[in-house]
Amino acid sequence: MKRTSVKVAIVGASGYSGEELVRLLLNHPHVDLVAVTSRQSAGQTVAQVFPKFASHPKSRTLRFTEPNAELLAKQADLVFLALPHGVAAEYAVPLLHAGSQIIDLSADFRLKNPAIYREFYGRDHPAPELLPKAIYGLPEIYRDPIRGAQLIASPGCYPTSILLPLLPLLRAGLVRPEAIIADSLSGVSGAGRKAEPDYLFCECHESVRPYAVPKHRHLSEIEEQLSLAAGVPVVIQFTPHLIPVNRGILTTLYLTPAEAAPTAEALARLGETISSCYACAYAREPFVRLLEGKALPDTKNVVGTNVVEIAWRLDPRTGRLLVLSAEDNIVKGASGQAVQSMNIMCGFPETTGLL
Ligand SMILES: NC(=O)c1ccc[n+]([C@@H]2O[C@H](COP(=O)([O-])OP(=O)(O)OC[C@H]3O[C@@H](n4cnc5c(N)ncnc54)[C@H](OP(=O)(O)O)[C@@H]3O)[C@@H](O)[C@H]2O)c1
Repeated sequence: MKRTSVKVAIVGASGYSGEELVRLLLNHPHVDLVAVTSRQSAGQTVAQVFPKFASHPKSRTLRFTEPNAELLAKQADLVFLALPHGVAAEYAVPLLHAGSQIIDLSADFRLKNPAIYREFYGRDHPAPELLPKAIYGLPEIYRDPIRGAQLIASPGCYPTSILLPLLPLLRAGLVRPEAIIADSLSGVSGAGRKAEPDYLFCECHESVRPYAVPKHRHLSEIEEQLSLAAGVPVVIQFTPHLIPVNRGILTTLYLTPAEAAPTAEALARLGETISSCYACAYAREPFVRLLEGKALPDTKNVVGTNVVEIAWRLDPRTGRLLVLSAEDNIVKGASGQAVQSMNIMCGFPETTGLL
């Protein structure tokens, strides 16, 4: 649907991804930010809660309100849900019935199979009838369906950092789907703005630790998307780590090429095939930076941007293909990617407000 402007609300605007949405949408030329919600900050202006936005005139008049789906549906055409999983569906259901477009940043609508939701999230899906309608909001892969969607399930931060580098290779049959290992390192903001002992400064600073081993919740959507691309069920090994930085995810994928390349010539040919596979998938994508030469992904080059960096190396000693990616978990891994989807849904140029 092509429009000139859109009225937008953010539910859960005081959290980390909500705050990033506020930053992006206050400055978006086609967005009128009409409502921001938070139970704890209700009554305060955006400038009071986020002094960093105080120079924007709207931040001094726009006040946080208690979330109320009925009211939000009247105020806004499109609503971002930046809420914990489980809570997001409680708002999505009435908003969708009232005709609002929804971009949900939580995991509530990312899976097609409610049984997998139950397995990974430990409860029955609150609105399984909506799962077939939800479009997985990875614009580089699902741009066309996003255009006509009423409900976008924006991908998780780890899934984005794993799926974007891996899907083109799997779709082209270049790697073995049964031999995928992923290691990811994430900044602490990935856990949200909540007070839990594990995320206190003294627990995280100067320390690195794995967590959710061996079955992180994000495996559910990662494996579902990889299975769709491979055409066979895919199960992967995934180990996330918490690192003492605010933002950023660095992922390393350890892959086995579908065909062995035992000689230098075969390795060179495989390299050319991988190179053209990535160029074909991403050379014209504004938010995917394929690194060349000796360059490797580095979170400092993507933090604060909607860009994911990707590089790869064939290791002649092990025969493995290493693929590496870096992104900002709150921008390309959450709010930036959600705004990218909004641009597509509304017919705005896809990079608007994101460069
Ligand atoms: N952080 C990331 O890097 C990241 C990346 C990708 C996706 N996500 C997903 O995005 C969603 C938000 O994550 P976040 O990190 O921004 O979380 P967060 O910092 O913890 O913020 C959560 C927000 O939701 C509101 N909220 C919490 N419980 C609520 C309830 N019962 N009813 C209404 N509002 C409620 C909070 O405000 P009040 O408590 O004041 O109401 C706050 O504004 C999550 O589903 C997360 O998995 C996060």
